[in-house]
Amino acid sequence: MSRFVKKALEKAPRLDKSQLESLLAMVVSEHELYEASLHSLPSGFVVLDPAHRVLFHNKAAERLVPFVPGFEGLEKPVWNLLRDNDVAAFLRQALEANQTSLTREFVLDAASGPRILSFALMPLVQSGRIHGSMLLVQDVTDRKSRESRLRRAESLASLTTMAAGVAHEIKNPLGSMGIHIQLIQRALKSGKPLDENTLSHDLEVINEEINRLNGIVVDFLFAVRPMDTTLVLGGLNKTVTDLMEFLGPELAQANILTELSLEKGDDTVLMDERFLKQALLNLIKNSMHAMANGGKLTFSTKKTGDGMALKVVDTGAGIPEEVLEKIFEPYFTTKDFGSGLGLTLVYKIVKEHGADIQVNSKVGTGTTVTIAFPPAHRTPALLEHKATEQGDVS
Ligand SMILES: Nc1ncnc2c1ncn2[C@@H]1O[C@H](COP(=O)(O)OP(=O)(O)OP(=O)(O)O)[C@@H](O)[C@H]1O
Ligand SMILES: [Mg+2]
Repeated sequence: MSRFVKKALEKAPRLDKSQLESLLAMVVSEHELYEASLHSLPSGFVVLDPAHRVLFHNKAAERLVPFVPGFEGLEKPVWNLLRDNDVAAFLRQALEANQTSLTREFVLDAASGPRILSFALMPLVQSGRIHGSMLLVQDVTDRKSRESRLRRAESLASLTTMAAGVAHEIKNPLGSMGIHIQLIQRALKSGKPLDENTLSHDLEVINEEINRLNGIVVDFLFAVRPMDTTLVLGGLNKTVTDLMEFLGPELAQANILTELSLEKGDDTVLMDERFLKQALLNLIKNSMHAMANGGKLTFSTKKTGDGMALKVVDTGAGIPEEVLEKIFEPYFTTKDFGSGLGLTLVYKIVKEHGADIQVNSKVGTGTTVTIAFPPAHRTPALLEHKATEQGDVS
């Protein structure tokens, strides 16, 4: 309410009838303005009272929220007014547990086909006290579809880099095989008796190069083959603690202190634990390598907006800027005995989880790897998957 109206209301007992009428007209017009603004929003907006009944809803909410027909007159908690059981269960669970800062995505059928809707619950605060809750509903189908297209483009780009990497890798062994085959051919053509030692050496080299080629192909297939990940709901904290327990002795031996900072609330993400552990193991191996003289390794899990962030922080050598941009490239390594596929695989696993990865590093200080998981809800991921298979949703 505007300050002017508030002040006028204080004087109400002293106002005459016409002054009261004009005050009321002012309040009504202000109210209409606010209501019109809310009805003009493209997002659905619903206000719930402390008993979770609908106090107000805007026009977009009628279109986006799966309300039952004639819900307006019904004095029931919002979850009893919905046609969709999943949305109803989410709202009931969150509101009854007083969890009013949550976002969840659902796939709902609309006339134009399935749409992904994001439902965000927020507390309704008035004069410092909670007076109910608000529900904001947004159609995020197009954004999700753009993200999914971007991911496909990314994976195509990484396949191209990978193919270029393989081409480069196989050049050397092929060249070396060619030279030794030529040597044998020359010896055969010369008509002189063959020297058994030389021949055996040439054949041995060819054999070694064949093994090297085989290794490259096996590694390549491992890195590009679609992973048969099965994403299920699981707690990130347990995965991290299990891994730290498993690696504890090895890390202690390497003079590496460990620290865990775990999310105390809901730590659920959609994950394939086997693959996720493999990715984390690759990150830890890199950190251990970067802290050859010991250091500190910190793992943290933290709720972010509507997803989860997992951080691995080391106090190792750090990565120079010109190296940083190449670390995810297949076969890129600065180590004598590295395959350069460790982070390529990490990247692939992270993308399979619909997550994002970011690496920040400072030479001499250390490296931080952050994996950002999307909200733990199965259905949108499935829709995205279907969209990828069928071509596109939009
Ligand atoms: N935590 C880290 N600290 C410093 N440098 C890192 C770190 N993680 C990765 N790097 C750099 O990125 C490069 C690529 O890493 P990646 O894990 O892909 O391959 P690799 O460790 O060299 O070999 P592989 O993992 O196959 O044994 C490394 O060679 C290293 O230079
Ligand atoms: Mg590595």
